[in-house]
Amino acid sequence: MAAWFETVAAAQSRARRRLPRSVYSALLAGSEKGVTYRDNVGAFAELGFVPHVADLPAKRDLSTTVMGQPVSLPVLISPTGVQAVHPDAEVAVARAAAARGTIMGLSNFASKPVEEVVTANPQTFFQMYWMGTKESMTAEMERARAAGVKGLIVTLDWTFSHGRDWGSPWIPDRLDLKAMVKLAPQALARPGWLLDFVRSGRLPDLAVPNVVPAGQTPPTFFGAYGTWMQTPPPTWEDVEWMRERWDGPFMIKGIGRLDDARRAVDAGATAISVSNHGGNNLDGIPASIRLLPAIAEAVGSQVEVLLDGGVRRGSDVVKALALGARAVMIGRAYLWGLAANGQAGVENVLDVLRNGIDSALLGLGHASVRDLRPSDVVIPPGFTREIGS
Ligand SMILES: Cc1cc2nc3c(=O)[nH]c(=O)nc-3n(C[C@H](O)[C@H](O)[C@H](O)COP(=O)(O)O)c2cc1C
Repeated sequence: MAAWFETVAAAQSRARRRLPRSVYSALLAGSEKGVTYRDNVGAFAELGFVPHVADLPAKRDLSTTVMGQPVSLPVLISPTGVQAVHPDAEVAVARAAAARGTIMGLSNFASKPVEEVVTANPQTFFQMYWMGTKESMTAEMERARAAGVKGLIVTLDWTFSHGRDWGSPWIPDRLDLKAMVKLAPQALARPGWLLDFVRSGRLPDLAVPNVVPAGQTPPTFFGAYGTWMQTPPPTWEDVEWMRERWDGPFMIKGIGRLDDARRAVDAGATAISVSNHGGNNLDGIPASIRLLPAIAEAVGSQVEVLLDGGVRRGSDVVKALALGARAVMIGRAYLWGLAANGQAGVENVLDVLRNGIDSALLGLGHASVRDLRPSDVVIPPGFTREIGS
């Protein structure tokens, strides 16, 4: 049993040591020069705190609700379609989120069936891209609804860019004998990771089960990706169509511009996530935290505003809440926890964030995360960006 780690950075270095090179590099992701990826993290460090030293609350309440679901801390699992990190994959993440009282976001590019994930965590939101036909998307929504998911996340920001200055990993379509021979040196150099898969009795199968009706043979990751690339991108009317079809809590993820935020409200979104896909999409989009204040100001009274991108510490969560987010979603932070120590590693990451949120609340003199305000942070001149009209 691997030991507890005290920061997300420590989880990341453990993940780097434990995962085969190509799996680690798929997690690191990013695109092009990594400008957005770095700004997402770096911008949080530019913000300061405005602390009190007396009259501090003896107890702090971290709980809130997101799209009607109560959560014990304002941190959700952001959906990630990444394979081969751990044999229990999204089921381990969902269990960890349930154990710590928060919501699981499940990507339709994930490796585990939605039914298993909802069993592990009844508070699951299912995430879809606009891909395939209206019939296939309706079937996907119906499967997720039948499984009992509590909300839909529609992710709109993707431009199919994949070049990275630091190189992309080679990932096979299927783990056949040829691929295994090619990947063997990397895998053998990471015996802890390999042993977990050997013990589970299965190799990663790199399939995406949730894009077809339950029981049908799932396509491979790249097969599904090809379908997505060939699908004409959605119009706002398409988004409205999806919203009508879903008829339940509905989040639009990937918002950066003010006009898009308003359009999302008009389309009937319950929530939006201010996000640039963790810097994996169009490089050069400003950090999500820079875009948050203007968007929260413009639409915060009409929809729940979330943020994702660059959250590595509890203090980052507190900064985002102070600038208008109701909660944040995390991506790489929990993926590193999963790689480092399975379910316990994800719980560990959530605990690290919880402790960090609690200390920052104490220092700021607030009894609840709902009391955070912009005046709690020092915002350097020129920090924020207002894009779109
Ligand atoms: C490896 C990887 C895979 C991802 N896959 C998806 C996905 O399938 N769907 C989605 O909406 N977002 C996806 N994302 C984006 C995350 O949901 C989230 O927006 C991002 O990771 C937040 O930034 P952070 O990693 O700095 O926390 C992915 C991110 C990473 C790192």
